[in-house]
Amino acid sequence: MFDKLKKLLENSYAPYSAFKVASIIKTKSKKEYFGVNVESAAFSNTMCAERNAIFSAISSGIKWGDITEIHLLAFSEKKKNQNEFATPCGSCRQIISESSNNKALIYIYNLKGEIKKTTIEKLLPDNFNDKDF
Ligand code: THU
Repeated sequence: MFDKLKKLLENSYAPYSAFKVASIIKTKSKKEYFGVNVESAAFSNTMCAERNAIFSAISSGIKWGDITEIHLLAFSEKKKNQNEFATPCGSCRQIISESSNNKALIYIYNLKGEIKKTTIEKLLPDNFNDKDF
């Protein structure tokens, strides 16, 4: 998975932040979907790698709730620190939570290939979801 993420990172379009992010997600059906961050000159149009990967899965027919794993790798051109682990932003946490019934396992890689494992339940406790309204 690390080698795939490293290759995918090359597709990131991040000329403004110089922070490249790649994400591969897995589904209940064991399929994989890819996403990178894509930035815009009008900054707020930027989309994160995790949400691009999840939206790609949904666009391909995967059911909402059937996302099982998120794999994430990032590289900051400014810091160039090989030891650092990224973390999903708040908006991505919400979408990861909803699209996995708050069950996704999250694997965050650094550039050395080391893995930090966590869960969406830990990253977004007391989540807001469709049962709230
Ligand atoms: N970014 C992601 O792709 N995922 C996150 O969870 C955090 C932020 C991207 C968005 C933007 O292109 C850059 O990282 C800096 O915020």
